[in-house]
Amino acid sequence: MGVDDVLVVIVGAGPAGLATAACLNKLSIPNVVLERDDCHGSLWRKRAYDRLKLHLGKDFCNLPHMPFPSDFPTFVPRVSFLRYLDCYVTSFNISIRYNRNVESASFDESDGKWRVVVKDTESNADEVYLSDYLVVASGENSEGYIPYVHGLKGFQGEYMHCNQYINGRDMYGKNVLVVGSGNSGMEIAYDLTNWGANTSMVVRGPVHYFTKEMVYVGMSLLKYFDLQKVDKLMWLMSKLKYGDMSGYGLVRPKEGPFTLKIKGGTTPTIDVGCIRKIKKGLVKVYPTISSIVGKTIEFEDGRNGEFDIIIFATGYRSTVLKWLKDYRLLFNEHGMPKPDYPNHWKGEKGIYCAGFSRRGLEGISFDAKRIADDISLAVKARKIPGGKSSHACTLASNSWRMNELFCS
Ligand SMILES: Cc1cc2nc3c(=O)[nH]c(=O)nc-3n(C[C@H](O)[C@H](O)[C@H](O)COP(=O)(O)OP(=O)(O)OC[C@H]3O[C@@H](n4cnc5c(N)ncnc54)[C@H](O)[C@@H]3O)c2cc1C
Ligand SMILES: *[C@@H]1O[C@H](CO)[C@@H](O)[C@H](O)[C@H]1NC(C)=O
Ligand SMILES: *[C@@H]1O[C@H](CO)[C@@H](O)[C@H](O)[C@H]1NC(C)=O
Repeated sequence: MGVDDVLVVIVGAGPAGLATAACLNKLSIPNVVLERDDCHGSLWRKRAYDRLKLHLGKDFCNLPHMPFPSDFPTFVPRVSFLRYLDCYVTSFNISIRYNRNVESASFDESDGKWRVVVKDTESNADEVYLSDYLVVASGENSEGYIPYVHGLKGFQGEYMHCNQYINGRDMYGKNVLVVGSGNSGMEIAYDLTNWGANTSMVVRGPVHYFTKEMVYVGMSLLKYFDLQKVDKLMWLMSKLKYGDMSGYGLVRPKEGPFTLKIKGGTTPTIDVGCIRKIKKGLVKVYPTISSIVGKTIEFEDGRNGEFDIIIFATGYRSTVLKWLKDYRLLFNEHGMPKPDYPNHWKGEKGIYCAGFSRRGLEGISFDAKRIADDISLAVKARKIPGGKSSHACTLASNSWRMNELFCS
């Protein structure tokens, strides 16, 4: 069994792990990223649907030290985002060990180090990493979450979480029910109608909906105006564009979108065309499911229908508790950080987390920079020898050549 001593171990090579590694490399702090999959950015590469684009404008989605190239569209498509990540990994010389599933991590009081036990899923060998710092970047979206539904186990159709949905090619003419009215639910329902599926959706509660452009304007205005003003404007824009949709089963929350987002982390839904389909009657809206018998699904308002496929767009869960033994040093029983934003990223005994603030890629950049700076300060204070090379810095300046790299 191999034992490796590294200053910083980062778990997960998604945007959060990569951003943290890049910031550490810039400060010449040795680190290694452990990734269970055979690639980085696996959520975007393998667990996202074809037509996905970044929902937020590119100004709000770049990782630290490397803006998106100027010729990228405002809303970056999935494939371009992956190319950006590839480029990020090369530019910052990020060291990733793939096919490494982190099975446990615990803090050893005797030597003050984190002991990270890893399974190399290719060779099936166990490895141990001893580190002074542990950065959890395994994602809030680690695992699809399907809520309890009475009778779902006996459903005679097929059901899946939306992270398994790629496109609706095989769903032509089928009766499909999408559960959830967040970004994924609305976009998948829209996509399904384009593939010729007879599409319905479950909207479980009040929801805000806007075009991407409205959200982009709103987020930009937040830099200059207070929350209430921007929320009012958002509400007005949505009302003007879509009108009152309550007759179709879509009710707006009483509180404004950005206020809600800040309070509870619920994101307003970005409409890519689904609302128009609902208005045209091409997507039928139902309330919460009350029970399922055979293929018949009954809803809380007493209506029912026969369905072939159910797609749950009902969110994700963190899986931190499955492997992190001493999670209490930072996380609660739900696998989310105990301290509130903006102090969520740091725990005790050298544990940190990146990407757990429900603030998307912008939140990830925020975390990565703070974590790297904090570790750098701690390293200096403890006089642990850091990286001697200056590679990282010279490489970082190369990042400005992104455009060239993309063209080649
Ligand atoms: C469909 C969808 C669309 C989104 N669109 C946007 C958007 O437009 N703008 C925005 O700002 N945000 C968006 N987000 C939110 C967020 O920015 C992304 O989810 C982002 O990928 C999160 O990055 P992450 O690195 O925290 O997590 P992930 O991308 O989930 O990466 C975590 C990595 O950790 C690995 N891992 C997990 N457990 C282990 C383990 N035990 N051992 C080893 N490796 C492990 C995983 O394989 C994965 O590669 C979107 C999210 C989803 C689901
Ligand atoms: C489409 O689905 C709805 C259920 O939402 C159902 O009532 C209707 O009969 C279906 N249409 C066809 C052509 O199957
Ligand atoms: C990249 O990082 C590795 C260590 O992870 C190091 O051995 C190598 O020299 C670095 N390469 C460059 C070009 O900096």
